[in-house]
Amino acid sequence: MKKIALLGSTGSIGQSTLSICEAYPDRFLPVAFAAGSNVELAFDQCLRWHPQIVSMATEQHAEALSHRLEVAALYDTDVVYGTAGTVQVATLPDADFVVSAIVGVAGLEATYAAVLAGKTVGLANKECLVAAGDLILAAARERGVALLPIDSEHNAVHQCLRGGAANEVKQIWLTASGGPFRNTPLADFANITPAQALKHPTWVMGQRITIDSATMLNKGLEIIEACRLFDLPPAQVRVTVHPQSTIHSLVEYIDGSILAQISVTDMRLPILYALSWPERMASELTFDMSALSQLDFQQPDFERFPCLRLAYEAASTSQAHCIALNAADEVAVDAFLAGKLSFVGIPRTIEHVLALTIGGSPASIPEVLEADHAARELAAEIVAKQ
Ligand SMILES: NC(=O)c1ccc[n+]([C@@H]2O[C@H](COP(=O)([O-])OP(=O)(O)OC[C@H]3O[C@@H](n4cnc5c(N)ncnc54)[C@H](OP(=O)(O)O)[C@@H]3O)[C@@H](O)[C@H]2O)c1
Repeated sequence: MKKIALLGSTGSIGQSTLSICEAYPDRFLPVAFAAGSNVELAFDQCLRWHPQIVSMATEQHAEALSHRLEVAALYDTDVVYGTAGTVQVATLPDADFVVSAIVGVAGLEATYAAVLAGKTVGLANKECLVAAGDLILAAARERGVALLPIDSEHNAVHQCLRGGAANEVKQIWLTASGGPFRNTPLADFANITPAQALKHPTWVMGQRITIDSATMLNKGLEIIEACRLFDLPPAQVRVTVHPQSTIHSLVEYIDGSILAQISVTDMRLPILYALSWPERMASELTFDMSALSQLDFQQPDFERFPCLRLAYEAASTSQAHCIALNAADEVAVDAFLAGKLSFVGIPRTIEHVLALTIGGSPASIPEVLEADHAARELAAEIVAKQ
């Protein structure tokens, strides 16, 4: 039985992880949760799973959850909060597998702590690797910790890499659906509303990643994530737009063979793969090959989606630029969702922050967080001026 600490239990990935635990009760048991502000759902999850510990984002949310648990006479769950709380969840001695699915840099310290504590980590949170991939990967290598990608593209690459040796890889291809605005005239981009951007054509996900998919910054973060995870330079991480989202990514080998991973567009499959690795477990998440009629591929349009270009530039410039890219985007997406910034203002803000970023490579997590904080302040100033 694998005992699981779930960071981001109330989110889209968190809930999909719990549905896998539900489907395989004799294999996976969630024992600890970290959530943000959704007290109602965290309470329901406590009722169902009786975790040893739950962390909420703030003291106020933790108090609200404690109160609900007391009224329900549930006394077997400790309630903690804040970053320290997420670290307690990630390092719970009884847990052997940590699913990292808090959105944004808020998940960084807990993910790093999980690696330091020697836990196997299933990584959905790409922002951790974008901001501090070198530190996390170095700590994982030192401790022999497995980092298993849950992001569907990286999970697909992980699977395809089983087909050859690292020095036989020529390049990898990340597929991108192209988001809802793949065919929208560029002239209409300035008028795109949050409601339009939140309608992803193929995936149901949290708000930030859905907006990031619409700007294709999500693919940009994935390029950096792939460079870190698979130890490849940006030039060997390519993007192809594949609107059907049937192939989740591909690995091209030096002999000319290209291996692709095909499956349903359902995040439960990469989650199951990570949780059960190195085994494969039988599932009902089957793909109907007889219904497959068309696979389209297009070059990404860097003019329509400047975030892709910005991500390649950040990846080729410095770690500080990768941190700034992500931090500026988090601020810009919040502002867009709040109606304070236009859709085209998102790449504009990121580009401006990157131009003002001084290169470098933070040597510790506190230094990463400092760089992240500085980039956020800069982004907030730039957003305010727009
Ligand atoms: N969804 C997908 O299909 C998908 C695919 C690939 C990768 N990912 C990555 O996986 C991560 C999660 O994505 P998602 O779509 O599941 O996001 P989501 O639905 O927005 O969920 C985010 C989770 O993080 C929690 N959270 C937010 N701020 C927090 C804080 N300060 N402290 C503790 N918990 C906090 C939220 O709690 P509350 O809801 O309680 O506030 C929620 O549980 C992201 O990094 C995303 O890029 C997602």
